[in-house]
Amino acid sequence: MSENRFAGKTAAVTGAASGIGEAIAIRLMAEGANVVGIDLAGEALGAMATEFGKSFLPVTADVTKEDEIAAALDAAVTRFGALDLAFNVAGASRVGAIVDLDEADWDFTVDLVQKGVFLCTKHEARRMNAGGRGGAIVNVSSLNARVPMPGGSPYATGKAGVEMFSKNAALELASSGIRVNSVLPGLVDTPLVAPVLAYEPAQAMFLDRIPMARAATPDEVAGPCLYLASDDASYITGASLIVDGGWELSNFPNFSKLAG
Ligand SMILES: NC(=O)c1ccc[n+]([C@@H]2O[C@H](COP(=O)([O-])OP(=O)(O)OC[C@H]3O[C@@H](n4cnc5c(N)ncnc54)[C@H](O)[C@@H]3O)[C@@H](O)[C@H]2O)c1
Repeated sequence: MSENRFAGKTAAVTGAASGIGEAIAIRLMAEGANVVGIDLAGEALGAMATEFGKSFLPVTADVTKEDEIAAALDAAVTRFGALDLAFNVAGASRVGAIVDLDEADWDFTVDLVQKGVFLCTKHEARRMNAGGRGGAIVNVSSLNARVPMPGGSPYATGKAGVEMFSKNAALELASSGIRVNSVLPGLVDTPLVAPVLAYEPAQAMFLDRIPMARAATPDEVAGPCLYLASDDASYITGASLIVDGGWELSNFPNFSKLAG
């Protein structure tokens, strides 16, 4: 970790109050950036503001509400002078088999994971354009963009949309000097998946599929996200970076387990 990699930069992080977004926000500040943390969880954001002081601006906002996102990003520009980097991380899902799934649960999930990323990217890019010095946007998708999940059709569909949307945004924004990439995490040990990981049989089934045989820490996803936003990735745009401990590779049966 470099102490000054993001010195003088301002970053927006959605979902900053927990898990991967929190890890991204904390690492950005450790590497010199100012951060506007955007989340529904105002209390947790307030605790971060107390801990991190003037380099952290907490804004309670819903990523599915365009006016709230626009206001949050305006607050960042007013406080810090510009917007250089953005990490669209906020997410959650409602599950259910397709034949039983309520329309409202589909809308909740797809609006949050997919429309939220569109609205945030739109307003982040506008403010980066206004600053005139380009920028970088990292959208957190999921391995479920490539791997469907029983009962998870709205989430997997929405996350696949995030991956393609990021490529489309990369295409449209390259001439403005704005790079857009997506990160596809596998299993990450955050409050989102804590109930599943706490159930030992479910955890064992997950780990059986992951060659590295463990979940990622939030920091192990934050690092690749920061890399894509850094100058070391200055020629990378429209890319999808899978961060999954090898999970995507493990669909073939592992016959070596029969031997032992
Ligand atoms: N944990 C995993 O295994 C995993 C794997 C792949 C992808 N992801 C994705 O990573 C992202 C972060 O997940 P996490 O595991 O850190 O979860 P998390 O639950 O720890 O954090 C998600 C944060 O998003 C916020 N949020 C939810 N809805 C919001 C809204 N409408 N507006 C603003 N904020 C909202 C929540 O309040 C929470 O603070 C999500 O997009 C998730 O889909 C997670």
